[in-house]
Amino acid sequence: MIGEFDIIPATADFLPALVELDRACFSPPWTSKMWEAELLGNPFSHVLVAVRRERAEGGDGNLIGFHCFWVVFEELRLMRLAVRESKRGQGVGRALATVALEWGRQRGVSRAMLEVRSSNEAAQRLYQGLGFFSTGIRRGYYSNPTEDAVLMEMNPLALPVGIPPRQVEGGWQRDNEGR
Ligand SMILES: CC(C)(COP(=O)(O)OP(=O)(O)OC[C@H]1O[C@@H](n2cnc3c(N)ncnc32)[C@H](O)[C@@H]1OP(=O)(O)O)[C@@H](O)C(=O)NCCC(=O)NCCS
Repeated sequence: MIGEFDIIPATADFLPALVELDRACFSPPWTSKMWEAELLGNPFSHVLVAVRRERAEGGDGNLIGFHCFWVVFEELRLMRLAVRESKRGQGVGRALATVALEWGRQRGVSRAMLEVRSSNEAAQRLYQGLGFFSTGIRRGYYSNPTEDAVLMEMNPLALPVGIPPRQVEGGWQRDNEGR
């Protein structure tokens, strides 16, 4: 899979596929209205999608993963990051996070933060690998099931470890040499 996906900004065409993938990855899921607000209504929100490089023109073209993040002045908040189960463990999640951090860095963002379920070891490792540190616990933050949130922060925002995806017109590409 490495080198076979692009990361591009999501358009409204991706709405049904985002809702479907979100439902498969999160409990509770975001509704279609919530995703629509992130794509079209919230001025702070940005949505990146990872798609197969060899995809059909237009439409939601084979969505592999997504990353919704907010940029509020100097702060970047990672809101929702997911990769299709069959495509995990191949660097897509790290690439989606890295592109957002690099995008923010280029626009003067100075710190990044997020919350993650305390049982979500894969995500915590991913974020630690990028340079995030745990800064505290928010008790009972999540529902369905109820669970604590681990608060993580990167302050100051530093260039992520690893090979960042290459910026190309209209998006970003992974090169074949891997991570
Ligand atoms: C978390 C998630 C986005 C990771 O995506 P991914 O594409 O599989 O991650 P990557 O292949 O880019 O892996 C990057 C790093 O994450 C960590 N990681 C990923 N999967 C892991 C696993 N199953 N166990 C432990 N660490 C894991 C590793 O540190 C990995 O680096 P390495 O390969 O050098 O060891 C994915 O598991 C997912 O969609 N989970 C469901 C939704 C979710 O929990 N989102 C996060 C909410 S905060």
